Amino acid sequence: MRQLLNRIFACVTLCCFVVATQAQTPQQTVARIKIDTDRVIGEVHPLLFGNFAEHLGRMIYGGIYEEASPLSDQFGYRKDVFDAVKQLNVSILRWPGGNFASGYNWKDGIGPKDQRPTRIDLAWNDLESNRFGTDEFLRYCEMLGTEPYICINAGLGTVDDARHWVEYCNESRHTYWADQRRKNGREEPYKVKYWALGNEIDGPWQLGNKSAEEYAKFALETAKAMRLVDRDIKLVASGSSNYGADWIAWNRTVLNTLRNQVDYIAIHTYINNRDNDLERFLGWSQTIDHYIETTAALIRQAQSGQANPRPIYVAYDEWNVWYRTGNREKLEEVYNFEDALAMGMFFNSFFRHANVVKMANLAQMVNVIAPIMTNKQGLYLQTTYFPIVEYGKQRGNTALDVFVSAPTYKIQNRPELKYLDVSATFNSKEKLLYVNVLNRSKDKDLTTRVENQEGQLDNGGTIWEMNNADLKATNTFNADQRVRPTTRPLTVKVENNGFTYTFAAHSLTILKLKMK
Ligand code: AHR
Ligand code: AHR
Repeated sequence: MRQLLNRIFACVTLCCFVVATQAQTPQQTVARIKIDTDRVIGEVHPLLFGNFAEHLGRMIYGGIYEEASPLSDQFGYRKDVFDAVKQLNVSILRWPGGNFASGYNWKDGIGPKDQRPTRIDLAWNDLESNRFGTDEFLRYCEMLGTEPYICINAGLGTVDDARHWVEYCNESRHTYWADQRRKNGREEPYKVKYWALGNEIDGPWQLGNKSAEEYAKFALETAKAMRLVDRDIKLVASGSSNYGADWIAWNRTVLNTLRNQVDYIAIHTYINNRDNDLERFLGWSQTIDHYIETTAALIRQAQSGQANPRPIYVAYDEWNVWYRTGNREKLEEVYNFEDALAMGMFFNSFFRHANVVKMANLAQMVNVIAPIMTNKQGLYLQTTYFPIVEYGKQRGNTALDVFVSAPTYKIQNRPELKYLDVSATFNSKEKLLYVNVLNRSKDKDLTTRVENQEGQLDNGGTIWEMNNADLKATNTFNADQRVRPTTRPLTVKVENNGFTYTFAAHSLTILKLKMK
């Protein structure tokens, strides 16, 4: 009997102990982030904060450009949109497509506007007035202080179309196309540096879809001719965007053929949350990392055997969340809070591969799968706008190789995935460390020890955070403050060159830390 009582007593004590420790668990450290400013991956290239403006739906017409609108300037550029784009701090703008590029004749879009032909846009089953063309685009980029990035027509276009386009934009001597530019009001060459050798040419949906061999041959000859017009240009090969069985073979052929001509290869990725599973949605980083790492390996393979290989980088020149709308809705996707979290996931992946990914372009900028939505009276900022602005402040920093340990989860048969998705960057001039943390857990706050390995952390700093009780919350014209970031001072005390911080469930946090 006594033994039994003893056992019950022991059991009750143990239970109390368990309850007591469980009560403490919210404070228990379950994750670690170790930062070392000596462990440099590469520069966070300013061109990672690029965007994309395709002739599609209301991206151009009714987006950045709306002639005769009271909201536009005398040239037709929407002033309110311009301000919002300016705040987005877009470093490079890709144009005119996209799928549109593969049927576009740039020569239709120059000269007096009223004499420009209206054409059928076969990519998006629309009419193209051509009132916004090369000069309108390049003037817009200059007003914004943004690098222009032109995608040539490698679908139905020719080598001549491409080399004439470079001549029109960049030639300073008196040639036929340079003089056409002058006739259209522009004396000085625009000096467009970035050119894409076509868009998604491996896609069966693309006008002028080609096999890898056909494309590589065409792109090689086009690149050669374009470079002969201007040897300072940078060229981007069309990587595979059709992730079937052949995507690696496509990239291999393209890289092997173009390795002495191109500076980048393009990757495109659109993610979705079709099955409404947040943790799975935020696990797309495994795929993004995989695309980057596999492409980097293919670049290295193409360079192997050459004594002085030409450096080739990844241009992630279309990326976003896109699944709710198609051409019927003109891709006017309304973004919710969880989509804002996904922006952090993409940037974390780009930063972790900062030595490979040297350009990235969100697709797209206004109305069409975009962070800015307009109507005739004004605009509102979508949920995705805010992380793009905040991550953009890290351009030029050095990306750091961070150690992370955190609880994990699994998506189907893929490797274990940490709940914390992390990147970090260092601004050595301002002595500021940025720690970018996405907590992908739907319901678990994760208390984390953040420690620094090299140099001394100072007390204080800033917390930028996006969090919302409603994962599906959206902004709209009359209620554009529902999903917004918050900022507050970081008040923790630094001990042993580190501190403890709890990353809330389903949140995106940027800790800005001062170094002594
Ligand atoms: O951004 C929308 C479309 O997605 C682009 O036109 C095309 O390149 C991609 O398939
Ligand atoms: O919607 C047609 C095409 O399908 C898109 O351009 C491409 O991204 C997708 O695979």
